[in-house]
Amino acid sequence: MADPLVLGIETSCDETGVALVRGNDLLVDAVASSMEEHARYGGIIPEVASRAHLEAMIPTIQKALGEADVDLSEVDAIAVTAGPGLVGPLTIGASAAKALSIGLNKPLYGVNHVIGHACVDQLVDGPLPERAMALVVSGGHSSLLLVDDIATDVTELGSTLDDAAGEAFDKVGRLLGLPYPGGPHIDRLAREGDPTAIRFPRGLTAAKDQAKHAYDFSFSGLKTAVARWVEARTDAGQEIPVHDVAASFAEAVADVLTAKTIAACHKHGVETLVVGGGFSANSQLREMAAKRCAEAGIDLRIPPIRYCTDNGAMIAALGSAVVRAGLAPSNLDIPVDSSMPLTTITV
Ligand code: KG4
Ligand code: ZN
Repeated sequence: MADPLVLGIETSCDETGVALVRGNDLLVDAVASSMEEHARYGGIIPEVASRAHLEAMIPTIQKALGEADVDLSEVDAIAVTAGPGLVGPLTIGASAAKALSIGLNKPLYGVNHVIGHACVDQLVDGPLPERAMALVVSGGHSSLLLVDDIATDVTELGSTLDDAAGEAFDKVGRLLGLPYPGGPHIDRLAREGDPTAIRFPRGLTAAKDQAKHAYDFSFSGLKTAVARWVEARTDAGQEIPVHDVAASFAEAVADVLTAKTIAACHKHGVETLVVGGGFSANSQLREMAAKRCAEAGIDLRIPPIRYCTDNGAMIAALGSAVVRAGLAPSNLDIPVDSSMPLTTITV
């Protein structure tokens, strides 16, 4: 029997994503973004994002169905992001998914957004091995997950205690006077700078942090260190070497992310690493991960960027994995959960 056709809906932040997945085959991935509306505020405004999701939802569903030449009646199951994310945006997606589930009389699966970021790799690189590590890094999350079974068994080894990696880049971008989101701008400047010019701190890497925070991240101290460094230079009337600041800052972030991730792979006997989330676009992280994974004999899997940023394919992929694992569908009265724990794969 053919695998079920799963329609996935993602609305946890500023992207309205709708995709169709059968097994590990992606039929279509349609996305509408409200980022342009947020850029002028210098950050995501939840109410603006909610309204944009509301307007984009039906056209994006129609676009996905049209491009895949699929009729709604052919859909076997609906998967939707139940959390974590922004409550208003999540509610719009969940409401649409529930309406489809009732209207089509097909099961609903509320799934975890962050685990979706790891699962989407299966659509590109094939099934994950029995045990894999996933580093999910974006503007909203920085988490290290041990994946024994993407549908049923994920352990959170660590997360950021303060800012996410992308968020730290955006904040440093703001203090360097770059447009929002600053991440890609710092990446570009960093490519022309000297990563060893300034030794910025590596959060939670001291010996005393090993016991409690071996796999946790902290980027707010680093951000403050950059701010102080820039301030001191400015006060002294000196010019800011932005390329070197960007490169040294990016180096510090990539160093901590990759060192902790590879240490976790060794500790847990894992030979496959998946990196996902919008921050995996970062050149400094990609380069360092490729180099260090090659040295450590770890197979590095990073899907193309369009599957790393928020999208419907990641939710359809996880929905498909959950349906194939034979898990029970969600109740139609499931709430959305802005801080859904990463050990909760479905609700
Ligand atoms: O996954 P994503 O699109 O949205 C969230 O769920 O957060 O990630 C966007 C984040 C932003 O903070 C953005 O500045 C950052 O990822 N980002 C980058 C790069 N591309 C995106 N940060 C550094 N270098 C990049 N090339
Ligand atoms: Zn995300």
